[in-house]
Amino acid sequence: MSENIERKKVTTQTFLSMKQKGEKIAMLTSYDYSIAGLVDAGGVDAILVGDSAANVMAGYDTTLRIGMDEMIYYAASVVRAVKYAMVVVDMPFGTYQGDPYAAVKNAARIMRETGAQAVKIEGGIEIEESYKAILSAGIPIMGHLGLTPQSVNKFGGYGLRANNHSEAEQLVANAQLLERLGCFSVVLEKIPAHLAAKVTKELSIPTIGIGAGNECDGQVLVFHDMIGINDAFKPKFLRRYANLADTIRTAVGSYVADVKTVDFPNESESY
Ligand code: KIV
Repeated sequence: MSENIERKKVTTQTFLSMKQKGEKIAMLTSYDYSIAGLVDAGGVDAILVGDSAANVMAGYDTTLRIGMDEMIYYAASVVRAVKYAMVVVDMPFGTYQGDPYAAVKNAARIMRETGAQAVKIEGGIEIEESYKAILSAGIPIMGHLGLTPQSVNKFGGYGLRANNHSEAEQLVANAQLLERLGCFSVVLEKIPAHLAAKVTKELSIPTIGIGAGNECDGQVLVFHDMIGINDAFKPKFLRRYANLADTIRTAVGSYVADVKTVDFPNESESY
């Protein structure tokens, strides 16, 4: 990104005006201070401290396994690094479903202890009361529909969602509900591109797609996937912008060889 372009802190209002102007929103995940600073400097509009941290940072098999303390630790680290992008934090599984009072308490704790600008939660009408409670505290929410990984045990996997008429109708109704309730944007994950395009046209809040085609108002990817750190994960929707897995393995291999052969450190690297 050019040093000459004046960047301002992105807010929920910026998101809305970008949609109105037809300017695409670029979002990536980050979970730590060093990477978040680089991602922000690269020019993204928003950073998601996703509960995908459960997979890529902690090695859990699903996102259900991460809790409030871990998400707050990751999110606070990200916020300390970020100057311009809006920081959105995923609420962990079990912290907002079922009990609206607990939902608002947990959302407020995330906002207070991290300094982030918004939270993201997964689901539609089934958690309507939680949406209302969190929004009533003045906390902006990014909704999340389609493939919602915290419900993997209900779906039985991570396949395409809303691929039949009734599920598609339900998704449109849920997207309309989230807009009516006052969410500032909604993630659409792994749904047919034509359906994401229809939702995007019908809503006045921005849609952020992942595996949802190019007519969404913005796109989000998991940083570790787009940068090629996890080279075993290759879903169709993922575009790789680097192959850091190879770069890291090669660098580590060279370091090990240099230590074993007493090539490192040399005289100029010694005191
Ligand atoms: O946790 C996450 O990274 C997400 C994105 C994939 C949207 O929810």
